[in-house]
This record gives sequence, structure tokens and C-alpha cells, in this order.
Amino acid sequence: MKRRQLIKTAAFSSIYLSAGCFGENKTDTSTLLIDTSNTDSTATPNLLFIPPLLDPSPDQNGVKQFDLTIQSATHSFFDGIETESYGINGSYLGPTLRVELGDKVSINYTNQLNEVTTMHGHGMHVPANMDGGPHQIIEVGATWSAQYTVKQKACTNWYHPHQMGKTAEQIYKGLAGVIILEDAETLTHPLPKTYGVDDIPLVLQDRFFDENGQFDYSPTHMEIMRGYKGDIFIANGQIEPIFAATTTLLRIRLLNASNAGVYNLSFTDNHPFKQCAGDNSLLERPVEMSSLLLTPGERAEIIVDLSSFVGETITLTETTENKAFLHIQVSASLTNSTSIPTELTILNRWSETDAVQTRHFTLSGSQGQLYINNKQMDITRIDQRLILNQIELWEIENQMQMDHNFHIHASHFLVLSRNGNPAEVQDNCKGYKDTVHVPPSETVRIIVKMSDYEDPDGKYMFHCHFLEHEDAGMIGQFIVEGN
Ligand code: C2O
Ligand code: CU
Ligand code: CU
Repeated sequence: MKRRQLIKTAAFSSIYLSAGCFGENKTDTSTLLIDTSNTDSTATPNLLFIPPLLDPSPDQNGVKQFDLTIQSATHSFFDGIETESYGINGSYLGPTLRVELGDKVSINYTNQLNEVTTMHGHGMHVPANMDGGPHQIIEVGATWSAQYTVKQKACTNWYHPHQMGKTAEQIYKGLAGVIILEDAETLTHPLPKTYGVDDIPLVLQDRFFDENGQFDYSPTHMEIMRGYKGDIFIANGQIEPIFAATTTLLRIRLLNASNAGVYNLSFTDNHPFKQCAGDNSLLERPVEMSSLLLTPGERAEIIVDLSSFVGETITLTETTENKAFLHIQVSASLTNSTSIPTELTILNRWSETDAVQTRHFTLSGSQGQLYINNKQMDITRIDQRLILNQIELWEIENQMQMDHNFHIHASHFLVLSRNGNPAEVQDNCKGYKDTVHVPPSETVRIIVKMSDYEDPDGKYMFHCHFLEHEDAGMIGQFIVEGN
């Protein structure tokens, strides 16, 4: 037992020393992990793991059955080290679910952990009792199924635990997976869409590891407030993996699944790319940019043109901390992709003049306690009662000198303004959103409508998606009533 421990520690220290993977904030490990000039390197290349697409089995009623097992595991982030983790049908993260508009699905989660959990479909428009929030606890050994018909536009969503007070830690250990939604537009547009080849999910996170290479999830009060931001950046559960690109256009479905990382993403030389989708829909038109800000829970689909990097490597970096997330090794002979359409979709933009109600939300806190409208989460309290199909304006005011964001379950919203300035011109909030960044001292105005389900007893959540904030009380509950 001791001997095994020693070997682990030795292997760990050699990586620590040679690659500078731990502790040092500013260590640049990219040159060590990828050296394109050194082709005779014996090290196994750290190729990007693509979460497998989970094949559903349709039952006799045409319901697509997705079977997922939530389990304890070990996962290798560092050569020769097994990190104790949680995974879904695997050792870290979960498979990708792919569904189409109109599909009837049953996502069956079996909890093989030694603790209770829940599994929420972030961004999914589902009945409250299928939401997978803190009210739909999956007991140890039990199976819970989220059953519904897909009735929303194509986008990239995700599933993750939502257990009261435990969400942050359970996601930290590895519980999260991507859901790809398709509709007639995404299926027919000439967008890159071959999964794993020119259409890849990229789950972005950061982690602290202790000296044994194990996750260190131990936020202090200060870290709860400022956010638990690890010094090791990972993509799909890997440190600086390499993706071998073979096509001129590469579509990347970015998901910020971190606890508190505000990621400012750019490619080598500020190489431009196009955003084609946000949280909950395609954008109306692709938007060209050279950097993209993504806060926890947010998604963005981007398309990068690799034709000027033939035979070279281009890196996706988080520029605030200067850490590489992904190296894209571009093949010397690329397959030509079709071009990106100039019109992607038509969005239904609710008019402010049709709004019948305005609600105000303040984000505040102190001493490791966080509040919405001066209240901490109370699972027995209903904070807001919404009416189905009623258009509303929500104003979210960050009263603190630190970052927050705001996420609403069950529907999408549109971002109208930030501190009174139209949002369209200043950020990437151009499509349907379900999570929006609320920077220090800013008030964000959004327009909201619950269009899908009513249930006077079913509670949905609105909350900050910085997971330590959420677990420290920054959540409220709402119900959707019929009119
Ligand atoms: Cu991503 Cu309430 O959750
Ligand atoms: Cu959600
Ligand atoms: Cu927050």
C-alpha cells in the first residue's frame, strides 16, 4: 500500500518538476506538452478525447431511451496518476446526447455513487418535474428518468447535478455532459456537422490538484466569494490536449463547465473566428470576432477557418490567465468544407412594449453567504410566480465588486441592455440565452417568457451559475402558472 503511494508520488513529482503543471500560476506548459519539431518523441500524444455519442435505444412507443450511469471512478489527468473522480458511463464527464426537435426522450440516470445527486438538463425546456433540479433527488442506487418531448430550437445544452449545496463539488469531480439539439435548420445548413471530425464539443474547466494528484475542492469563505478558480485548465478532462484537424472549417461547441472561471478565449495571433450559436439557439447571422467571453454555464458554437494554418498548430487560449486549453494540429492536406451560410435562423424577438411586468433582482453577499433580493435559497419558498406566455422584463443588478451571472431554467431570454446601453453592440448575447454575465456593479436587463409548460406545484430555479455562489444560497425558485 505504501509502496503504491510512493510510486504515485514519484511519478507525480517528476511531472510536477518537468512540466510545471502544479502550483505556479504563470508556468507555460504548452511547449513541453506539444513540440511539433520533435517528431521522435516517445511520449504518447495527448489527443483530444471526444465524449462518445450515446446511442439511444428507441422503445416500442418511439421514445428514445438514453441510459446513463453516474459512478465513482478514477481518471488520468497526469501520466501515471489516477485521480479519484466521478463520471457518467465513464471516468470523467459523460457521453454526448444528440436529440432532434420533436423527439420523445427518456434520459435514465442511475445513481451508483455513495451519495444522493440530481441531474438537470441545463437549457432544456422541460416540465418542472423533469427539470432535474434539487426537487428531483436520485437516491443512492436509484434510477430517475427525465422524460419529455424536445420542443425548442437547435443549440448545445448540457446536463449536470443540481443537488442543494453539493452542485459545485459534484461537478468538480466530473459530473457533466453535453446535449446536442438539432432541428431542420442545423440539419440542412452547410455547417460542419460530422461529430468528432469537424464538429467537436469542448468542455472547459479548471481544477486544483493536491500533491498526490487528487482533486482539491476546499474553498475558503474568500474563495466562495471570489470563486474557486483552479490553476490547471482542462478541456474534455485533459490538460492541453491536441486535436488533429482535417477540414478547413472546424465547429467547436464551447461549454464553460467550470465552477467560477470567466474565460476570455482567443486563438493564436488573435486569429478571427465566427460565432454561430449561443446558449439556446443559432445566432441570426454568424458574428466574426477574435475573442469570446464565456462565464460558467454559457455555451457558444464557433467556427474557425484553419486554411491559413495548414501543417501548423493553432492554440485556443484563455487570455486572462494565459493558459492554453487546446492545441489544434492542422493537417498538411485539408478537406474543403462548404462555406458558412450568411443567414442562420430567424429569432422571435419579443417586444418590450408587450411586457406586462418588470421584476428586479439584486445580487449581493458577504462572509461566504450569497443572496438574491437579500434572501438565500430556501427549498420550501416560492420566490416568483410567473404566468405562462406572459412577457416580462427582468433587471438583474450586481451590487458587488465581483463577477456573477444569472441563469433561468425552463425557457430562454434575450439580453436587452447593460447599464442602459444596448447589449447587441457590446457582447455576444445575440441569440437566445439562458445564462448571462452580470459584471461588477452592472445591471443587465433581459426580456423573458415562459412558453412551454405550466405546473402550479413544480419549482424551477433562477440563480447565479458560479457554483460556489449557487451552493452558498444565490438561488431563487419560481413556478409557472396558467393564465
Ligand atoms: Cu446549469 Cu440551475 O443550472
Ligand atoms: Cu439550468
Ligand atoms: Cu455569483
